[in-house]
Amino acid sequence: MCSSFEQDQKDRSQVVSRRTRRSRTVKLRSFEEETRLAYNARISRLRSTEYPMINGTTYLDHAGTTLPARSLMTLFSDTMQVQLLANPHSSSQSAPNYSHVMIEETRKKVLDMFGTDSDTYEVVFTANATAAVRLVADAFACQQQGFEYYYHQNCHTSLVGVRELANTSHCFQSDREAESWIHGQSPHSEMDDTIPTLFAYPAQSNMNGRRLPITWASNIRFSPAHRNTYTLLDVAALVSTSQLDLSTDDHSPDFVTLSFYKIFGFPDVGALLVRKPVSHIFNQRRYFGGGTTEMITCDENHWVAKKPRLCDRLEDGTLPIRNILALNIAIDAHKNLFRGFDSISKHTTWLAKSLYDRLSQMRHQNGISLCSIYLDPDSTYGDPTTQGATVTFNIRRPDGSWISSASIGEMALKHNILIRTGSLCNPAGMANALGLTSTNIRDAYDSGFRCGQPNDVRFGVPMGMVRASLGPMSTVEDVDVFVKFVETCYLDGNGPHQRDISDLLAVADSEHGEELLPKKKQKKSSRMRHRFPKWLGFY
Ligand SMILES: Cc1ncc(COP(=O)(O)O)c(C=O)c1O
Repeated sequence: MCSSFEQDQKDRSQVVSRRTRRSRTVKLRSFEEETRLAYNARISRLRSTEYPMINGTTYLDHAGTTLPARSLMTLFSDTMQVQLLANPHSSSQSAPNYSHVMIEETRKKVLDMFGTDSDTYEVVFTANATAAVRLVADAFACQQQGFEYYYHQNCHTSLVGVRELANTSHCFQSDREAESWIHGQSPHSEMDDTIPTLFAYPAQSNMNGRRLPITWASNIRFSPAHRNTYTLLDVAALVSTSQLDLSTDDHSPDFVTLSFYKIFGFPDVGALLVRKPVSHIFNQRRYFGGGTTEMITCDENHWVAKKPRLCDRLEDGTLPIRNILALNIAIDAHKNLFRGFDSISKHTTWLAKSLYDRLSQMRHQNGISLCSIYLDPDSTYGDPTTQGATVTFNIRRPDGSWISSASIGEMALKHNILIRTGSLCNPAGMANALGLTSTNIRDAYDSGFRCGQPNDVRFGVPMGMVRASLGPMSTVEDVDVFVKFVETCYLDGNGPHQRDISDLLAVADSEHGEELLPKKKQKKSSRMRHRFPKWLGFY
């Protein structure tokens, strides 16, 4: 790391004094900006009590997972100590046990959260979003004639994998192509509506945060060309910073997949929401596990009667009772802390726009842009209907050559900044944004390159990206630190290792309220950093 911090220190105190001066000229700020800064101050205070694990770290990987609040963990742990959780399968219909009742209440809370109810959707608990996608894929693979699969290039890997079970598949390379198919034009031949078709797309890209039109689901539902087409909307990336509204039945997708840790940081559980009129798709499913059947015989005339309710048929074995209890608590704790998704959306939209604006303005002295940001042409930072709180980019040297995203991730980690780098589990989106063809990718593979490896610039072309993603408990100070990191380490060929920003991090830490903690706790938090082994993340 660097030797001299003086310049950075000066810069930092200038920023701080500029802020102080600005606070004296309050009237010059817009009402909106005032509101945003006040909310930011509230989140900064909240962080010191609710998210002590962030102290000393600039956490910018909320698209990977967001972080659990202390009040959620405390209430969960308190409840676990006093509440007996029996196996829900051990209770009878006439005398359901606490676990059974709690699980049903949690299903209802999940539906409430998305503005819908049990008349419209069924909630099936799964291990994560991927397991939810897999349930749908397996159900389609069991259809007598198999199925055709269409997916958008912004899909996460878990949706790409569905193609392996389909008769045929096609990846739409653009919205235009997807929309012309939605309006009845097949990329292959005549559309055949005797074979079931599944169309999958993400509500938000996990690569660059681009938000896609939710209305595609209703366009398909009401199109005469798609009588046998079903839509799967993957909301895993969207719901961490935005309200998903399933209240308008006509617009609702047939299947919705998500992981709750992306919203609450805990528990590690996911869900598949199935629109009730399409439940029949699961009728061909053959496997059954414990708790999914009414009666079974096991002699030569073996026979099974499955439970009528879809979730009971699909949730094989004992449900993750403790995870579901934590989810039940998490939904309320999150509401208490953030006052709903509307404030989270406004806050993170504002932060992401600031991060984007500042990164996109940085230029080397010769005028070349420092950051090449992968913004979709249909998206605009500041507009939550088209863009989420993610900024994805690569960095150029003044001569135009690329710096490996993996090395930027390593450098960030040395400064306690956590970001995501590499291909981001979004193969088609990444290839498209980087202009990589299948041949380029195969050539890189043949030359020994593998996803996630260091030195991911191959043949002069980046094979990965840097992703900074914000969450409900992100603040302006996180944006400041990250922008300063990029500027200090990479602008004008400064190059890694030439400067240090630890002073900046120290200021950010105190702005986040470490100093607000009682002295005893302050000491404990820095002692903990040294006590834990390296794999726990305190590098
Ligand atoms: C958009 C999107 N879909 C699906 C997934 C898969 O989620 P999980 O790994 O929890 O199954 C992710 C994970 O990052 C994601 O971002």
